[in-house]
Amino acid sequence: MIEIRPCQGFDELEACVQLQIETWGYDETDVIPRKTFLVAQSIGGQVIGAFDSENAGGAKSLVGFVFSLPGIKVGLGLPQAYLHSHMLAVKEAFRNRGLGRELKLEQRREALSRGIRHIEWTFDPLEIKNAFLNIRRLGAVVRRYRPDFYGVSSSRLQGGLPTDRLLAEWWLDSRRVRSIVNGHPADVHEVKERIKVPASIYEWKSSDKGRERALAIQSENRTKFEGAFSQGMAVLGFTRDSEGNGVFELGPLAQLELN
Ligand SMILES: CC(C)(COP(=O)(O)OP(=O)(O)OC[C@H]1O[C@@H](n2cnc3c(N)ncnc32)[C@H](O)[C@@H]1OP(=O)(O)O)[C@@H](O)C(=O)NCCC(=O)NCCS
Repeated sequence: MIEIRPCQGFDELEACVQLQIETWGYDETDVIPRKTFLVAQSIGGQVIGAFDSENAGGAKSLVGFVFSLPGIKVGLGLPQAYLHSHMLAVKEAFRNRGLGRELKLEQRREALSRGIRHIEWTFDPLEIKNAFLNIRRLGAVVRRYRPDFYGVSSSRLQGGLPTDRLLAEWWLDSRRVRSIVNGHPADVHEVKERIKVPASIYEWKSSDKGRERALAIQSENRTKFEGAFSQGMAVLGFTRDSEGNGVFELGPLAQLELN
């Protein structure tokens, strides 16, 4: 039995810090400390945990968490509150059984309960699994690319590559998102461009020998994403084939994807 609920008290927040280190292998310059989680919770952010209640309960049973900070959008009209989701992690032994999605769905539910209708987060365009989860299983859309967003990172998942990121936009009560999170397919959309990520990217990123190839894919895809986004296209779909290769599907963004 897995319980999904806000983390409470110092020990549970410290367990998130430890899971963060276990997941990304961050050194002390990158790791987000307990204090920041605490501040985030007290100013309208979220630290939501997944707890394996078969286990001891409380901090020792934390097997996943999602962390967000409150943000403000300024532009047309009044400033709008939204959440920036900065981390999602599930312990390796608990992955691929829906927990990552459950944590995001709780994040959405809690945000909507406060009248917040939008959550954003960045993700690495070379991470096929994350793209699948974000686009296909949660219904996020993407229309912005941030080259080397964080600068140098000690994350072992980054493989020493520039920290390029796509910005996922999750329009929480849009027709698209409501339909996808309720298990229905997204509306059919016109695909004008496809951007591929080979399954071997994981292997290339993690070896000195393959890094040049990973870098070449990253920079080729960066050019394609930036070109498509500058023409008003957005990522609306994502598919993976039987060999694990991923394909971003881009097309014109309709207003109904956002409302
Ligand atoms: C990203 C992460 C949180 C996902 O957690 P999870 O509990 O495994 O996610 P879920 O089981 O809810 O969903 C994963 C989906 O991806 C699919 N998937 C698994 N491996 C995949 C792959 N190589 N390519 C494409 N999709 C894949 C799963 O089948 C599942 O889809 P399904 O529900 O249709 O079967 C977890 O893998 C993790 O902690 N990764 C390291 C940290 C990270 O990258 N965090 C995100 C950025 S902050």
